[in-house]
Amino acid sequence: MPDKVLVTREIPEAGLRPLEGFDLTVLSEAPPDREALLEAAEGATGVLSNVTEKMDAAFMDAAGPELKVIANMAVGYDNVDVEAAKERGIVVTNTPGVLDETTADTAFMLLLAAARRLGESERTLRAGGWHWWGPKLFVGVDVWGKTLGIVGMGRIGQAVARRGRGFGMEILYHNRSRKEDAEKELDARYADLDELLETADFVSVHTPLTEETRHLIGADELGKMKPAAVLVNTSRGPVVDEGALADALADGRIFAAGLDVYEEEPKVHPKLLERENAVLAPHIGSGSRETRDRMAVLAAENIVAVLSGRDPKTPVGG
Ligand code: DGY
Repeated sequence: MPDKVLVTREIPEAGLRPLEGFDLTVLSEAPPDREALLEAAEGATGVLSNVTEKMDAAFMDAAGPELKVIANMAVGYDNVDVEAAKERGIVVTNTPGVLDETTADTAFMLLLAAARRLGESERTLRAGGWHWWGPKLFVGVDVWGKTLGIVGMGRIGQAVARRGRGFGMEILYHNRSRKEDAEKELDARYADLDELLETADFVSVHTPLTEETRHLIGADELGKMKPAAVLVNTSRGPVVDEGALADALADGRIFAAGLDVYEEEPKVHPKLLERENAVLAPHIGSGSRETRDRMAVLAAENIVAVLSGRDPKTPVGG
């Protein structure tokens, strides 16, 4: 009998190919409801999960003792209870490395769009509200030559910093540990969080979501930013206090924000939806065809490796 593999969402074809030969269940295009997910998990030896599914102890127990691997098709894995998996001898993998450049493109796209008021001006044009060119119409702030502050200088943070260098920006970064290679390559300067917030014209957040980073950027931190500054978040929603951000945008305490992630996806704080100076994308950070193919293939290959008794390419913590 072939091993049973559960794929929780429809994924690119490329990711299904390595899984041919397994007893494969692909659940649904939309996130499955919890009951359907637990039912489908029964007897699975491998699960290809997405950020929308909670891979907690109850899920693992519903799958049963045969479950050997959970391959999350994402670099972030805050949806997976890694401790519970460890206790049960289940390997957890993620997809680092294959989405850095695409996610950095998204962060820079949001940064530019927020700085130059693209969302607001496009909405006005489409609504028939554009009547003339104007010296003061939709005037934003410059990006080139400014200071870019990266919070979380991992692979994605560094890829964003490289883009900043291309725009002639000075790079400041804050990270748990110093990144000397990045300092050399990007002429980046390490700063503590307060200094970064006080000095940077653009702050781009790239930390994983952990208990330490939850609401890392709240009212106090936003209060330290310059009034003309722009905040970008492509990491995880709860790293930024959305209510505090909406208030800061409404009061003009910062100029604008570009967000791809939210505290309770797919819900977006109603006050943020009202803000013209918030550019809001629906968690599309890694959403290019090429990158989604690479993520799906890597997740599938990790399942194949574990179920064939080999080491996975990208185990979490590995
Ligand atoms: C990730 O990889 O963590 C993204 O949020 C999903 O693309």
